[in-house]
Amino acid sequence: MQGNATDSWLLALPKAELHLHIEGTLEPERMFQLAERNDVELPFESLDALRAAYQFSDLQSFLDLYYQGAAVLRTERDFFELTWAYLERAAAEGVHHAEIFLDPQTHTQRGIPLDVVLQGTLRALARADSIGVSAGLILCFLRHLTGEAALATLESALPFKDQLLGVGLDSSERGNPPEKFRDAFELARREGLHTVAHAGEEGPPEYIWQALDVLGAERIDHGVAAIRDRELMRRLAADGIPLTMCPLSNLRLHVVEDLRTHPLRPMLDAGLRVTVNSDDPAYFGGYVAENYRAVRDTLALTASELRTLARNSLEASFAPPERRAELLQDLERSATPVST
Ligand code: HPA
Ligand code: ZN
Repeated sequence: MQGNATDSWLLALPKAELHLHIEGTLEPERMFQLAERNDVELPFESLDALRAAYQFSDLQSFLDLYYQGAAVLRTERDFFELTWAYLERAAAEGVHHAEIFLDPQTHTQRGIPLDVVLQGTLRALARADSIGVSAGLILCFLRHLTGEAALATLESALPFKDQLLGVGLDSSERGNPPEKFRDAFELARREGLHTVAHAGEEGPPEYIWQALDVLGAERIDHGVAAIRDRELMRRLAADGIPLTMCPLSNLRLHVVEDLRTHPLRPMLDAGLRVTVNSDDPAYFGGYVAENYRAVRDTLALTASELRTLARNSLEASFAPPERRAELLQDLERSATPVST
């Protein structure tokens, strides 16, 4: 199945996006606009020079640029506008539910108060309803920093607890095992927050085991490395642990060298609860529908398999039961193209 008709079907397919870093939606044009508005100096002469820098050799080479870019975000309005632009784009791509990652430490470390960051982001999320999207916020700890810093970050965010879905773990994976963050995740669970963690993007299967067994993660973000561990594959299938996979991100960061060998296909065949997401779309060349299209075309996914991916995303969400039922009904009511 190829062509515009099916692409518009993919855009309309009701889905949830569960792995999306809001800082990763900072498009080059907005980066320049905010640099100017906030009087922040960017080490790039032009949009073209910035775009030319988007050639990554691995996760760290991306993160270096990504944290540099995030420095243009300074005011409540900046965070509001960034988040709102994402929500509008997501709604246009059939995202009915979005769970958004935010890295508080990226901003507080630069002296931006947590209140400013959260108020702006939450104000946009509170309006998502008006465009047919339910949305929530997951605060991620930067794993290249200490476990104590993560704990302190969570404690400072607890006054906002009722407006948060949960916590996650991101940034440089190698050498920063999940167990470093045992205490922060334990507190998050005690406070009734959901827990997710990036694991098995560049790190080994062992980090996925730790995310599950030490942190109590309810979903694994990426999880690519699980394909190398049969016992782990069995565990993920048996417990129905969702994997929030990001094919275009994996390609751009050389986690896989070719989408045709992406483990999403064998994982789907093994009955794992795989989902498709965009990670940092402004940096990796595609929002969520483009990620669906990429796996459809390279892994020869059928309409029925694409619907399974969408259903997985809705089922793996932390939406309350009534909203989840509504989301699943949206999917059941959506049409399938006649040609497949
Ligand atoms: N991995 C780890 N940290 C991140 C990523 C990612 O893909 N994107 C933004 N922060
Ligand atoms: Zn990510």
